[in-house]
Amino acid sequence: MKSAKESQRIRQRYGPWAVVTGASSGIGRGLAVELARCGLSLVVVARRAEILEELANELHLLGAPEVRVISADLGTAHGVEQVQKNTADLDVGLLVASAGFGTSGDFLDSPAEAELEMLAVNCRAVLALSHSFGRRFVQRGGGGLVLLGSIVGFQGSARGPLRGHEGLRPRAGGGPAS
Ligand SMILES: NC(=O)c1ccc[n+]([C@@H]2O[C@H](COP(=O)([O-])OP(=O)(O)OC[C@H]3O[C@@H](n4cnc5c(N)ncnc54)[C@H](OP(=O)(O)O)[C@@H]3O)[C@@H](O)[C@H]2O)c1
Repeated sequence: MKSAKESQRIRQRYGPWAVVTGASSGIGRGLAVELARCGLSLVVVARRAEILEELANELHLLGAPEVRVISADLGTAHGVEQVQKNTADLDVGLLVASAGFGTSGDFLDSPAEAELEMLAVNCRAVLALSHSFGRRFVQRGGGGLVLLGSIVGFQGSARGPLRGHEGLRPRAGGGPAS
């Protein structure tokens, strides 16, 4: 729980509105709750609309003056545009880009579509939203971006050692690289 002084500092620095992608679960949900407790209004984004509507009620009760729900698939260009268009009328000072997922197992055993979707959600959407909100923050004279990464990104493969250069190596018996 933040002190009243700290909540006021966060409101002044990043309010009045924050956008949180991936708010229906995990880190995004947790950060949306903390920001509501600080008194920021919130735009919550994910695909599962029902969960977001329930969350919106909870965020109101915790202290968010207003909550807007955007159900969008950030794996698509249309989903990213939905977020950009449906927040254009708001004074947003903070973007938390928490929507994302990771595939697991051998890269070559995974369907290419799954890997491309991961690229679209974890990279394309994050880049596009950071760019458009970054411009808005410069125009309004301030703002913040919260981007999430993973130490798994430094591994060559899920089964590989932490030293990335050893992660891609031939399989025993002459099979394809893992
Ligand atoms: N948890 C960790 O230990 C950890 C460590 C390092 C990095 N990370 C990264 O941090 C981010 C959040 O992790 P988490 O543990 O909070 O994950 P999580 O609990 O699985 O939540 C992921 C969120 O992303 C949303 N999402 C997924 N695909 C989406 C899509 N196509 N369009 C819109 N929203 C989408 C999900 O909502 P819907 O399903 O409702 O769309 C959900 O709200 C991820 O990028 C993850 O890779 C997590």
